[in-house]
Amino acid sequence: MTVTDPDPREATAARTDPGRTLDVTLKVWRQAGPDAEGHFATYEAPGISEDMSFLEMLDVVNERLADEGVEPISFDHDCREGICGTCSLMINGQAHGPERGTATCQLHMRTFSDGDTIVIEPFRATAFPIIKDLMVDRAAFDRIVEAGGYITVAAGSAPDANLIPVPKVVADAAMDAAACIACGACVAACPNSAANLFTAAKAAHLNLLPQGQSQRYQRTETMVDTMEDFFGSCTNHGECEAACPKEISIDFIATMNKDYLRAKLKNRRYLSRNG
Ligand code: SF4
Ligand code: FES
Repeated sequence: MTVTDPDPREATAARTDPGRTLDVTLKVWRQAGPDAEGHFATYEAPGISEDMSFLEMLDVVNERLADEGVEPISFDHDCREGICGTCSLMINGQAHGPERGTATCQLHMRTFSDGDTIVIEPFRATAFPIIKDLMVDRAAFDRIVEAGGYITVAAGSAPDANLIPVPKVVADAAMDAAACIACGACVAACPNSAANLFTAAKAAHLNLLPQGQSQRYQRTETMVDTMEDFFGSCTNHGECEAACPKEISIDFIATMNKDYLRAKLKNRRYLSRNG
């Protein structure tokens, strides 16, 4: 056995040791459908392992509810590893809960204390109508991406990789913007329900790269105009950045605003030249 081989006895012990457990009380928003009246329901959740993720805790509660003949709580989830952006819960009034830079699915029960009461609500914004319980419809985000998130230029055949040099600082910044998982926490945390951080991130990951330059200004104008059809206006509170599980910087909003002003001039000139 090498020093790096795990001791099988320790692995077995770790699997069977339940570790610290918590008894928590959940106050969960229940709403039968988009037009139904919602209310908070209280559920006791005893014996929850501190090693469970928040969603695993909800799974356990749902299994118990199903055993008791109560309809399980509806909530969104998919990857459960902070990639897909579908998990979207307000936990004790904070989008994705108390841990900074952490999506709901990456939050662990060890964050909470024995005896805690945890309030769980859906992301609340007029542009995110509730589908059921904790699930909301975030299709308004899709409308923004549709408005600007594609390239219409004739690109020819597939070019060789790395044919267009991209400075590392630019590639890094574009990558930071591309980390946005479209969860909607920025909207839920904003007192104006603004989607500027999301839109700025989606615009920036294309607009920063050389390949994205040809439609930079048309893209920015259509994305921002579509955003304003659904969401409130940004007043620089910064709550979006604090709530973002990917810690997207509000600096991207400044870049988007600058591009939007330029777009208003450049696109008007383009239209006047091309009828
Ligand atoms: S900017 Fe952050 S909070 Fe907003 S949708 Fe993207 S990942 Fe979520
Ligand atoms: S379930 Fe995919 S990011 Fe949380």
